[in-house]
Amino acid sequence: MNEQIVILDFGSQYTQVIARRIRECSVYSTILPFNTPAAEIARLKPSGLILSGGPSSVYAAKAPLPDPAIFALGLPVLGICYGVQLLAKFLGGNVEKGQKREYGKGTLTVKDGTCALFKKLPKALQVWNSHGDKLTQLPTGFKPVAVTENSEFAAIENRAKKFFGLQFHPEVVHTPRGREIITNFVHGICGCGRNWTMRNYLDQAVEEIRAQVGKEHVILGLSGGVDSSVAAALLHKAIGDQLTCIFVNNGLLRSREAEVVQEVFGRHFNMKLQYENASSRFLKKLKGVTDPEKKRKIIGGLFIDVFTAATKRAGKAKFLAQGTLYPDVIESVPIAGNPAALIKSHHNVGGLPKNLKFALVEPLKCLFKDEVRQLGLELGLPKEIVWRQPFPGPGLAVRILGEVTPSRCEILRNADAIVVEEMKASGLYYKIWQSFAVLLPIRSVGVMGDERTYDYTIAIRAVESQDGMTADWVKLPYDLLEKLASRIINEVKGVNRCVLDITSKPPGTIEWE
Ligand code: XMP
Repeated sequence: MNEQIVILDFGSQYTQVIARRIRECSVYSTILPFNTPAAEIARLKPSGLILSGGPSSVYAAKAPLPDPAIFALGLPVLGICYGVQLLAKFLGGNVEKGQKREYGKGTLTVKDGTCALFKKLPKALQVWNSHGDKLTQLPTGFKPVAVTENSEFAAIENRAKKFFGLQFHPEVVHTPRGREIITNFVHGICGCGRNWTMRNYLDQAVEEIRAQVGKEHVILGLSGGVDSSVAAALLHKAIGDQLTCIFVNNGLLRSREAEVVQEVFGRHFNMKLQYENASSRFLKKLKGVTDPEKKRKIIGGLFIDVFTAATKRAGKAKFLAQGTLYPDVIESVPIAGNPAALIKSHHNVGGLPKNLKFALVEPLKCLFKDEVRQLGLELGLPKEIVWRQPFPGPGLAVRILGEVTPSRCEILRNADAIVVEEMKASGLYYKIWQSFAVLLPIRSVGVMGDERTYDYTIAIRAVESQDGMTADWVKLPYDLLEKLASRIINEVKGVNRCVLDITSKPPGTIEWE
């Protein structure tokens, strides 16, 4: 059995982030419901236990509480936020409603540098707080180790029992040295080695898929984007021909996109790939439509129709696989009185129909984007797919302002191919969030040779972003901009002017629509 850390989930939106931090330590972890019996935890022979944060108050009527016997397992325990209040409640301390909610950045001052959690860390640390209740009396056998502006018990320990409590969140990026605190717990205190790799993750995911799917068949909507591509490669490794991928060409794809998907997945990986060329249906329905929301609705609706029909042709499948990632759906254990799930609402166009009668397989749902990329490389997917920039479900339709016509698609496809090619050549393509061309359907006058032209404008959009929620425009080098403009105007028929978008998000959006 793998060396592992057990995380008990008390409903924090950061529980999966804790698991990710432990994976970063090359250690395996299991997230279990808060009320898992101690005997069941003991059977897993974990090296340590982490009690997650959570939105409740330990004194609330329906507060999620652990089996008290977990404290007698002889395991090192780290309580985070709500977890530290549980230590107080069960081990003889006291918790009270804080005068004011402590939320946001704080400074932690380490008073006892001999505490193993803070080994090799400075005396003053920036930390992230998010809690209302406050520890007012230490549990038996505990000592304060560090303080913040508002809390004299920001970090506490019972050294003899290896019990630790942190009022702040070490797992989030806003606690910049938090990883080292978790590393100290996992390696220093629990004594775990570094044995868990993405290869192990892959092997385990394959086993889990096989156990879930058995001999049944699975359908996957393959878009060619990172998430569905990695999901496809993973499922194919697990169940081979029991997987059918459906790839819909909506006529709004980038240059050579349909060919590349067929080459990589059909020929190289030898997957069962059902290619649905519905380009003309989409373009016909989009004829004359200029309103951006209407365009999205048409594309989303037709996608569902095409996909549904395709699943029927694909034969009998019991499962539908999706490349959902952890940040897409922040799941939480359902705890009475609190939101059971915090769903990050995003663009759903290109999403799959809800009324399809399939059971879901979501093999990536515990992973973050960068981990999915690592997994993709482990599965042998080419860098071009694993590191490709995000591309919206409604495709070029959100980059052609006004009416989408076949000729405008052709113009934008050609301009976009130049942007991708030059961005790759400059080495910037893989360093930034997105870089693409937008077609503005207004014409202006130009001269080319001796001829007067009256053609469209292409806007170049290049942005940096962490997650697409906020973004800043990239200061591309002048010589690259010059090359882009000159190639686009010279090589793309129908374009005689090129401009650069210098809008950040907010107030702008990344796509123009
Ligand atoms: P905006 O334009 O809202 O885009 O700033 C934020 C990020 O989301 C992508 N995007 C989409 N992705 N389906 C998707 O899968 C969509 O309908 C969609 N619309 C926008 C956009 O490319 C950017 O990365």
